[in-house]
Amino acid sequence: MATAPELFGSAAEAIRAMRDADVPEVVAIERASYQFPWSEGIFRDCLRVGYTCRVAAIGRQVAGYGVMSVGAGEAHILNLCVGAAFRCRGLGKRLLTLLIERAAAAGMSEAFLEVRPSNTAAIRLYLAHGFEQVGMRRGYYQAVGGREDAAVLRLGLRAARLRSS
Ligand SMILES: CC(C)(COP(=O)(O)OP(=O)(O)OC[C@H]1O[C@@H](n2cnc3c(N)ncnc32)[C@H](O)[C@@H]1OP(=O)(O)O)[C@@H](O)C(=O)NCCC(=O)NCCS
Repeated sequence: MATAPELFGSAAEAIRAMRDADVPEVVAIERASYQFPWSEGIFRDCLRVGYTCRVAAIGRQVAGYGVMSVGAGEAHILNLCVGAAFRCRGLGKRLLTLLIERAAAAGMSEAFLEVRPSNTAAIRLYLAHGFEQVGMRRGYYQAVGGREDAAVLRLGLRAARLRSS
C-alpha cells in the first residue's frame, strides 16, 4: 500500500517507501557502511516480498534506509543504516521511530533486532528507544578472522505506544 512520505526538517527531507530505483544508492551506502554488506539481490528480494523498506531522502539523494519484516505478532528490524556523510543529525532516530510506529500500527506486540556488541553507536540508539537486551547469539555475524556474537534486543510495542501517546 502506498503511503505518504513523512516530511521533517525541511520539505526537502522525507522518509518514504524505498523504490526499486533507490537500490543502487542504498547498496552504495550499505557497502561503505558494513564489512559484510547485503547484496543488491537481498534488497530487491526484501522489496519483492513486501517487507517494510523505507529510505530517508534529502531531496533526490538517499541518505539512509531501514528494512523490517512483520508477522506472527513480531517485527524484526533487519537493517538500519545512514550514510556516513549524514550521520549524527537524527536520521537514524527518525528511521527507527518510523519503523517502530509502523510495526505497532500493524498490530505487532514486540520488535526484535540483532546488533554487534562492538557497535556502540547503534546500541546507544536502540537503548534510547527502549530496546532491552534479551539474549546473545554466539558467532552470528561474519567478522574478519572469525565470527562475532550478536546481541538480541527486544522492544515491547505496547509500551512504545504508551510512551509516544
Ligand atoms: C547506527 C546509525 C544508524 C545511527 O544513525 P545516525 O543517523 O547517525 O543516528 P542519530 O543521529 O539519529 O543518533 C541517534 C542516537 O544514536 C546514538 N548515536 C549515534 N551515533 C553515535 C555515535 N557515533 N556514538 C555514540 N552514539 C551514537 C546516540 O544515542 C544518538 O542520540 P543523541 O544524538 O541524542 O545522543 C549509524 O551510525 C549507521 O548507519 N551506522 C552504520 C550501520 C549500522 O551499524 N547500523 C546498525 C546495524 S544493527
